[in-house]
Amino acid sequence: MKIRTIKQKLKAMEVTEGAGVSVHRTIGTPALKNLDPFLLLDHFSSSDPDDYIAGFPDHPHRGFVTLTYMLDGHMLHQDSMGNRGDLRAGGAQWMKAASGVIHSEMPQQSEGLMRGFQLWINLPAAEKMSDPEYQEYSPAAIPLVKTDQVQVRVVCGDYNGQTSVINDPITRVKYLDVSLEPGSEFIYDIDTSFNSFIYVFEGDARCGDEPVLKHTLLVLGDGDRVVIHANGEACRFVLIAGLPVNEPVVQYGPFVMNTREEIERAFNDYRDGKLVSHKAVFHTDH
Ligand code: FE2
Repeated sequence: MKIRTIKQKLKAMEVTEGAGVSVHRTIGTPALKNLDPFLLLDHFSSSDPDDYIAGFPDHPHRGFVTLTYMLDGHMLHQDSMGNRGDLRAGGAQWMKAASGVIHSEMPQQSEGLMRGFQLWINLPAAEKMSDPEYQEYSPAAIPLVKTDQVQVRVVCGDYNGQTSVINDPITRVKYLDVSLEPGSEFIYDIDTSFNSFIYVFEGDARCGDEPVLKHTLLVLGDGDRVVIHANGEACRFVLIAGLPVNEPVVQYGPFVMNTREEIERAFNDYRDGKLVSHKAVFHTDH
């Protein structure tokens, strides 16, 4: 067993997204443009409605997957083909935008805490123009594995014999929401072919001797085992891993393709009203 050590440590940057939503971004910033297959990680967390109320009105996506995991709050998702999703605290939505989706993501609350993550996952060339698909699940469908010291919500992939309902056959993303009691330890084996990172969003964690403060992302190096400790107090982080796509990435805002020509086509298709050609299939438990 080789324990994965720290490859890069990165403090989140505050940026404004959508119609004026304030988020903490780590992947997708100048310090970490992407971490194959991941293109972006936004952490939204605020109890001030001015930070989130404007939401994310209609906008396009092509060439990748978005995975939204809600910790607190309530968000309504609607797309231009009539699909409608309802994301509540503890629920998750995996959206394969692929050839094209135009959708809105709007808060369904005017006060209280809104907290969660959006992760963008790249698709290989062969999948970029495939049909879009949604997998959306309520909190009850997300497996929770609990011991005295460690609590893990299996958003994607598997942990301790529990497997997520979200099926991601391409990049086989593993996405665990991990809570550790003070002084406890979390161990997870991931095949060496996966790229992986953790992002701490409550308390402080520790990797080896290195403290990892809140709102910090840790890119993990080569190895097949991840070991993370709570650094004195309780902490909570997401551990995310995925198979790299190993292809050129040409990104312009919400379009992520392999070449500049494909990006131009995405712009032209959007302008001509041809970005969305297939209605996404919606899998949900609610
Ligand atoms: Fe979106």
